Amino acid sequence: MKILVINGPNLARLDIRDSSIYGDFNYPQLKSFIEESAKSHGFTADVRQSDDEATIISWLHEAADNSTPVIINPAAFTHYSYAIRDAAELVKSPLIEVHLSNPLAREEFRHTSVISGVANGTIGGFGPNSYALAISALKGLTK
Ligand code: DQA
Repeated sequence: MKILVINGPNLARLDIRDSSIYGDFNYPQLKSFIEESAKSHGFTADVRQSDDEATIISWLHEAADNSTPVIINPAAFTHYSYAIRDAAELVKSPLIEVHLSNPLAREEFRHTSVISGVANGTIGGFGPNSYALAISALKGLTK
């Protein structure tokens, strides 16, 4: 089964983001890790990244049209994009929100997620393993 993994703004630049928060790996390494984790659970992961809100919305529409399960790290859009929330709500297959860091343990503006309310669940704070945990949760949800 195919799953769509959407990564939001600035996640392609993990190479220059604060490694004490996001870990010591770059985006290609994260992408490979997600692809391998998916494979070990019998999924094929289509892993994408965009800094652009409209592009992410179009990918969510695509997942809604094709009934594709979604794992999404909306990055900073998590905290304020009602447009991404509305698009995520259109996805009727399972949708899991993930974060590398634990936003609740960081600045106050990161404590709000406008996405969580339309996700099956949220996993944050485990670095790349947040994605592996989400893949494992998807396995249960798509049985
Ligand atoms: C993030 C957390 C967000 O607050 C932040 O804006 C990001 C990454 C995470 O994966 O920890 O860009 O979603």
